[in-house]
Amino acid sequence: MNKIALITGANTGIGFETAKGLLAQGFDIIMVCRSAGKGEPAKKKLLFKFPERKVDFYRCDLANFDHVRKTIELIKGKFDHLDVLVNNAGYVTEKVEITKEGHEKTFQTCHLGHFLLTMGLIDLLKKSEQGRIINVSSMAYKMGKFERLLKPSKKYNKWQVYGDAKLANIIFTIGLAEKLQGTDIEAYSLHPGVVKSGFGHNLKGFTRGLISLFSPFMISLEKGAETSIFLATSPKAKGKSGQYFVKSVPEQLNGKETTIENAQLLWTKSKEWTD
Ligand SMILES: NC(=O)c1ccc[n+]([C@@H]2O[C@H](COP(=O)([O-])OP(=O)(O)OC[C@H]3O[C@@H](n4cnc5c(N)ncnc54)[C@H](OP(=O)(O)O)[C@@H]3O)[C@@H](O)[C@H]2O)c1
Repeated sequence: MNKIALITGANTGIGFETAKGLLAQGFDIIMVCRSAGKGEPAKKKLLFKFPERKVDFYRCDLANFDHVRKTIELIKGKFDHLDVLVNNAGYVTEKVEITKEGHEKTFQTCHLGHFLLTMGLIDLLKKSEQGRIINVSSMAYKMGKFERLLKPSKKYNKWQVYGDAKLANIIFTIGLAEKLQGTDIEAYSLHPGVVKSGFGHNLKGFTRGLISLFSPFMISLEKGAETSIFLATSPKAKGKSGQYFVKSVPEQLNGKETTIENAQLLWTKSKEWTD
């Protein structure tokens, strides 16, 4: 049975490098990307480099639940198992944007879309010998506050909202590890490093300037993908379900926000929000 990994946001940045790394290790790849205009050329590039492998592309805006549901249906219709799910796509908006489902867009993209996708694909992951779910978070989770996930502040602050969404990635991972006890599936979260990618290039003014200024000091995309690839493949990750990794090593979490109680509450609310 060939190994299959699904990566969201695989058309560019850390996601694209993760796809390359996993193809090099013999995986087939399912790319789940927001735009066909960017996804199809990225798929061609991957197949050009790895002509012997299979790469499938699905267009899916994670900030649209109908897209996510349709994608789950199509993937379940085509594949009989899934070994690795990398919830990698991420986004932050300059100004507040509300999705048609009524959620703040950064939160829906980074967490709710991935929550729905993961729930829809759990059965396929259970058919793998050892399924792995990898949630790409960020050290920005340290700016996050759990209470704002349940009751967003009235005043929009993009980095606060991003920190909250990345905190949700970590808390979701803790919830997954608990729910998946007794199965062969493990879940991990990670910070990839400060990576020279397209992240934040949609932002304007001071923040955009700051990103350009620090860009020479950022790590490469290859380095940025290393922890995702490690968690997807290494036997050393086994038994560490629920943990948060930096440079492929587990790191202690800030305990105040990342409790099992918060994980259980986020799980219940996420189920409610994604219906
Ligand atoms: N770069 C860093 O320093 C850094 C640090 C910590 C954590 N991270 C995390 O690493 C992950 C990857 O980011 P990156 O640095 O590789 O950034 P990137 O180059 O901007 O890539 C982000 C990916 O997410 C996709 N995406 C955004 N909104 C989406 C949506 N609604 N539906 C589906 N896909 C969507 C983008 O698609 P489009 O190309 O169509 O926009 C792109 O493929 C993110 O979760 C980010 O939070 C990055």
